Order: sequence, then C-alpha cells, then structure tokens
Amino acid sequence: MRNADKNTAFAERIIFAKKEHIMKILILNGPNLNLVGSRQTDIYGSENFDTFLQKIKKRYPEIDFDYHQSNIEGELIDHLHATRGKYDGVVLNAGAYTHTSVAIADAVAAIDVPVVEVHISNVYRREDFRQISFIAPVARGTISGFGLQSYLLAIESFSME
Ligand code: DQA
Repeated sequence: MRNADKNTAFAERIIFAKKEHIMKILILNGPNLNLVGSRQTDIYGSENFDTFLQKIKKRYPEIDFDYHQSNIEGELIDHLHATRGKYDGVVLNAGAYTHTSVAIADAVAAIDVPVVEVHISNVYRREDFRQISFIAPVARGTISGFGLQSYLLAIESFSME
C-alpha cells in the first residue's frame, strides 16, 4: 500500500472511531436528593427523580447515562474519582454539600472530566448560606433554578460540544 493510501485509511479509521463514540454522562446527586418528589415539594417539585431519570434516558437514547445518589460526602468523592477516563461529563447536584464541602470541590478540581453544577431550586433566591458554592469555581458552569429541567440543560451543554 502506498504511503498516501495508508494515511487516508488511517484518517478514515479516526473519523469512524469519532463517529462511533458514545457519549457517557454521570449524573451524581448528593444528600436528600433521594427524597425529591416528596421533600419540600413547593421548592423541589413533586416528580420523583427515578421517574425523571427514565424520561432523560428516553429523551437522549444516544447517551449512555450512569446515576448515583449518596447522602455520604466520601461516597460522592469516590464516585467523582472513579469518573477519570470513563466519562465525557458529570452533572453534579451536591445538595447542601455545595455550600460546605471543600473536599468535594477538591475532587471536582482533581478529575479531568468536566463537571456541570446543577440545582433544582434557584439557590440565589434563597437563604444567604445557599449563595456560597465551593463547587462553582471549579465547575465548567452552574445551572440553578429550572426545577428538574436544570439537569436537562446541563446535559444539553455537553451535547453542544
Ligand atoms: C439544592 C439546593 C441546596 O441548597 C439544597 O441543600 C439541596 C438541593 C437544589 O437542587 O436546589 O439539597 O442543591
């Protein structure tokens, strides 16, 4: 095979591999978000997160989603560490840890996977302590206040790339 043909074949294989790439996104929810749907429904709505997750999967059949929820800070950190080299993006709602956890912020900064911070409620319309986010400075961006749609907007931000 001539060198020029070899180069063309190589380029075609790369294009094929890129086309075949299946986007993988981790949705990671922190404390009390297992209670969405029944918890403070005036703030967080009455839709259960598992039902919403099924809708997300149907809406984006081309994306491979993993989902974890934990009420334990260290477990969230372990999930973030485990994303290295495995995901195209993380949608992170760290719940109240957003406002307290240097350790979760350090984990976000430590991984090479882009993280979008999301909140169901508009944290900037709420108590002062919710207006501090340790995650925002290390996240790719923050989406807050669109109800569960905040997760959709975060997913869209990855598929726009
Ligand atoms: C939240 C906002 C946080 O302040 C709160 O502690 C939560 C949920 C949200 O999604 O609006 O648990 O992250």
